[in-house]
Amino acid sequence: MSRSYHIHLLATGGTIAGAGKAGRTSGYKAGSISPDLLIKTLPPLPDYFHLTVEQICSVDSNEINDVLWLSLARRINELAKSDIDGFVITHGTDTLDETAYFLNLTVKTEKPVILTGAMRPSTATSADGPLNLFQAIHLAAKPEAFGKGVLVCFCDSIYSGRDVQKVNTYKTDAFNEQDLSCLGYMRDEDCYFLNESLAVHTTASCFDISSLTRLPRVDILSFYAGAPVDALDFYASKAQGLVISGTGSGNYSAAWKEKIRELADRHIPVVRASRIGHGIVSRDPHFESSENCFPSYTLPPQKARILLSLALTVTSSYQEMEQMFRKY
Ligand code: SIN
Repeated sequence: MSRSYHIHLLATGGTIAGAGKAGRTSGYKAGSISPDLLIKTLPPLPDYFHLTVEQICSVDSNEINDVLWLSLARRINELAKSDIDGFVITHGTDTLDETAYFLNLTVKTEKPVILTGAMRPSTATSADGPLNLFQAIHLAAKPEAFGKGVLVCFCDSIYSGRDVQKVNTYKTDAFNEQDLSCLGYMRDEDCYFLNESLAVHTTASCFDISSLTRLPRVDILSFYAGAPVDALDFYASKAQGLVISGTGSGNYSAAWKEKIRELADRHIPVVRASRIGHGIVSRDPHFESSENCFPSYTLPPQKARILLSLALTVTSSYQEMEQMFRKY
């Protein structure tokens, strides 16, 4: 007799659960249909799959926040102790890369945790949700997905939660891993891994969210030609840390640099990231002349924000924070 697989689906909403005018890809409401209904649109799963379903929330992923992240991570950590073999999370695509990275740093299991979603609502012509979900469920049962950290399964590809980014506003092939492409492919229910992320994740991560109710506030500020320096004062009065979405290799004006140096007196860490979306922001003596400022290395602003926020829960040392940006 073949082994059975217990896969648990955690539904959060998004376009994959969206519904609108028949055939249309726009003008729909995200998070409108139940996961049970969504499952009915899938090709039949083999008998050895035992699929259980739980609705965590039913939102457009622009409504996802730290409170939801913490409860989702805690829920997975609790369920991971049971006989469940793998998890699938359905999620809106707009912030899917952020949730994937947060969970990659905070879930304490080697069992597969796979996020998926869709670019077209369930009522569109050629909705992409059913195939994405079908493949995510299969991937969650694969031994090859075990111990790889949180993964994203989307449009026939497998991505790491660490590096995945949304790169297209409407096409169904909407994700990528910057210059790294993807970890592997899905073809029907089969997976083909090509490589894996070297960044530390899940069970090896130092972050313990079990008693957190909120995350320290970290805000992202965009620098652009002529950006006013008082924006830094405003955000520094609200947040415990800042991420700059700079130009080029994490650059900004001399006035911003001077203001960031002043923020050292207020013990505000500032991470230098880039709006470019490809490449690396590494140490540069021109910018790292004040101790509170360090580069995001290969993290884009929205993920640097998550890591800085978690870092603030365990240390106030700028050196230790920067080490985390090299490690995670
Ligand atoms: C959302 O992120 O919830 C809406 C967009 C999408 O899922 O593609």
